[in-house]
Amino acid sequence: MAPPRNRPKPIVAVGEVVMWVLFVLLLFPAGVVGWAVGHYTGHQGGGTRTVTVSAAAPATTTTPAATTTAKAAPTTTAAAAPTAAGKAIFTSAGCAACHTFKAAGATGKIGPDLDTAPAIDAKKDNMALAAFVRESIVSPNAFIAPGFTKGLMPQTFATTLSKAKIDTLVSFIVGGK
Ligand code: HEC
Repeated sequence: MAPPRNRPKPIVAVGEVVMWVLFVLLLFPAGVVGWAVGHYTGHQGGGTRTVTVSAAAPATTTTPAATTTAKAAPTTTAAAAPTAAGKAIFTSAGCAACHTFKAAGATGKIGPDLDTAPAIDAKKDNMALAAFVRESIVSPNAFIAPGFTKGLMPQTFATTLSKAKIDTLVSFIVGGK
């Protein structure tokens, strides 16, 4: 657009108008978003929360586009009821092929009977039962059950099973009889 010729400093005048338009376009959405964030976070009690706010103010509109995402604290997993999950992992990981364990319907004979052996062997190894069962899964050679051979139980569960799955397995074996 051509600046009017009768004004002394047309560039400045146009520049001023542009500045004001930009000022309004940018500050108004910023104020609204700021209020929304303050309002939102101010009314939430406790807990860890991630609030992501993105504001876009395109030159053609004064409506702020604000996205507020709230992430609740992580919920607890199924550790409280390990039986079904434990049985599924016990079976899918192949434990049943080698171990007898009633709660899993397993009748394997290559390794110790998990209904009875861990309680006896934990005492021999001077360990709490859950800690002993965990050690036996992640590091089987740390203690070899009497009458059984070293190296038969796979050494790989610490890497092939997630920590959560091992937790579930341990609870299942400790509490499953
Ligand atoms: C290929 C056969 C085999 C597989 C598969 C196997 N185990 Fe074993 N497991 C053994 C043998 C043999 C022993 C005894 C030797 C030892 O203590 O390492 C044993 C020992 C154990 C013990 C210690 C028992 C005790 O009283 O000392 C636990 C607990 C155990 N296994 C759990 C599991 C779990 C859980 C799985 C599946 C994630 C599994 N095992 C998979 C063969 C196996």
